[in-house]
Amino acid sequence: MQVVNTIAEVRAAVRAARSRGQRIGFVPTMGYLHEGHLSLVAAARAETDLVVVSLFVNPLQFGPNEDLARYPRDLERDQRLLEAGNCDLLFAPSVDEMYPRPMETEVNLPNLAAVLCGRSRPTHFRGVATVVCKLFQIVQPDVAFFGQKDAQQVAVVRRMVEDLSIPVEIRAVPTVREPDGLAKSSRNVYLTPAERADAPVLYRALQAGVQRIEAGERRPEAVREAMVQTVAERPSVRLDYAEVVDGTSLRPLAVVDGYVLLAIAAYLGRARLIDNVQLHVSADEVRRV
Ligand code: PAF
Repeated sequence: MQVVNTIAEVRAAVRAARSRGQRIGFVPTMGYLHEGHLSLVAAARAETDLVVVSLFVNPLQFGPNEDLARYPRDLERDQRLLEAGNCDLLFAPSVDEMYPRPMETEVNLPNLAAVLCGRSRPTHFRGVATVVCKLFQIVQPDVAFFGQKDAQQVAVVRRMVEDLSIPVEIRAVPTVREPDGLAKSSRNVYLTPAERADAPVLYRALQAGVQRIEAGERRPEAVREAMVQTVAERPSVRLDYAEVVDGTSLRPLAVVDGYVLLAIAAYLGRARLIDNVQLHVSADEVRRV
């Protein structure tokens, strides 16, 4: 695996791969890798010829009181995991390399960015869209891989790529879970043993919502209520939101039908965790997608 820190080095490596006729797969990350990230690398490995991973803790996507300074970092361990996962090129730029001066240009999707996580993290998706757009200009991948756990991020990136005609295909890769259902996340490291024991309630809440839909419930508010009541079983878990929305526009649904996203976010001590499930709901079937 080649490890580079500058934009010029990435461009040279990608140019060389393209001249060999190779397809470029890209996995953007903020490091502190877990099985969820490695499943993205494996998906990129299976579909493309040159697998590029970026590792950059992007300051633009953290609010003033968020965890930028204490976000977990372990470059050596990440490098070992990526070697083992057959990554070809690791791009690990400094903040100065990415932002040599304050960014004047921003990419903002005001509607998609304002809902769900955007209500408690109002600048987050602007930071994500801006850095992903910049990374796409640097790497110029054919295909980019994102975790389905960050469903709102996937919706934002898909829409940005369409709106700006960026020639990259976006793949959303299924969430990787612990045996008890907790979605893998770099932020799980913040959980105390007691919080870790409570954390699977997020996935149980989503499953409670799915069960209501499978039982024939089509009122979003009733499905939401099932999720809220499940979270209430663990008083230490402070719900941020539980929502039932359209999976593409992220807008509230009048009726549970079509491509449906059940999304949840909650605070457990210092950690804010998110999770979701996606369904295709029709008159005859309820299918997980
Ligand atoms: O999902 C993440 O880790 C980040 O939001 C991303 C896509 C790498 C952008 O910084």
